[in-house]
Amino acid sequence: MKRITLIPGDGIGPEISNAVTKIIEAAGLKIDWDVQTAGADVAEKEGSPLPQRVIESIRQNKVALKAPVTTPIGKGFRSVNVALRKELDLYANIRPCRNIEGIKTPFDNVNLVVVRENTEDLYAGIERQIDDDTAESIKIITRNASTRIVKYAFDYAVKYGRKTVHAVTKANICKLSDGLFLECARHVAKDYPQIEYKEILVDNLCMQLVQKPSQFDVLVLPNLYGDIVSDLTAGLIGGLGVAQGANIGTECAVFEPVHGSAPDIKGQNKANPTALLICAVNMLKHIEENETAQKIENALYNVIKEGKVLTADLGGNATTTEYTSEVIKHL
Ligand code: NAI
Repeated sequence: MKRITLIPGDGIGPEISNAVTKIIEAAGLKIDWDVQTAGADVAEKEGSPLPQRVIESIRQNKVALKAPVTTPIGKGFRSVNVALRKELDLYANIRPCRNIEGIKTPFDNVNLVVVRENTEDLYAGIERQIDDDTAESIKIITRNASTRIVKYAFDYAVKYGRKTVHAVTKANICKLSDGLFLECARHVAKDYPQIEYKEILVDNLCMQLVQKPSQFDVLVLPNLYGDIVSDLTAGLIGGLGVAQGANIGTECAVFEPVHGSAPDIKGQNKANPTALLICAVNMLKHIEENETAQKIENALYNVIKEGKVLTADLGGNATTTEYTSEVIKHL
């Protein structure tokens, strides 16, 4: 039996994790879930929101499914999500975004992938209060990290038959940091003559994305722009409830949705487990459990296409439990 780390997270995390593990079990696949808690409650009990046991579990199992973990805003401990990505060197955050049949949106031809650098930029967490009225945050961009993420984006394009890679920056303003990212992108692009290479400033990208998203294929971005743009692209296909993601490193892979812990709907049996379920499907493909992955994928997309049992974020009135049962019925 395959052993996989499961981080149920907090907020809506435990509800959607429960839905997903139930669906996988109903699809006939037994997984030995190595459940690892993290976050604020754990910090109170164990002194750290991300104890070493969580890292060790993922190192050992190589694969993890992770639900969201709340990060205190403007104060408190460093994001568990950022720390995990850094600790395991999960340098590539991949967020594919394509229309799902049955979810009505203003566009029906979205099919792009956000490749977000996951280890540096403003997420390095180097901040200081200079005086009462001034704070400073340092944006770190390195040649190594930029080169490897752009290389990942081009390799991804080759592997999945994609045609264009856009490097996204604000290099007109951040001339040195984003300038270095761009320099690396140009250098890497030369090794992939079969893929078209383009550049765009992040502000213009946002405007173009909400006007004509079909013109984009693979986007490669430094960490902060990648974070923001991938929420925007999630909005193009039906919102955070359906937006998948994966953090890939050289040793391990952690599959987690784009969305956060949604404290506004926590414990109300309202959360949409779809995003985490698509992450789980990708995780199953990653460990070559293709048959189960396909079975779940078919059931999920049929439920959404039929449109009879949907959660509130998709315009329906089903609870998380009812939606989960409907997917199981369709397996
Ligand atoms: P959020 O993604 O949790 O929620 C934004 C909006 O989308 C809310 O209205 C929420 O109800 C809705 N939403 C999100 N996921 C949904 C789902 N599965 N089904 C239905 N509706 C859903 O973003 P927010 O409020 O900015 O962040 C909340 C917390 O989550 C923060 O502490 C943040 O740091 C953390 N966070 C954690 C992430 C992770 O663990 N990877 C990623 C993003 C945020």
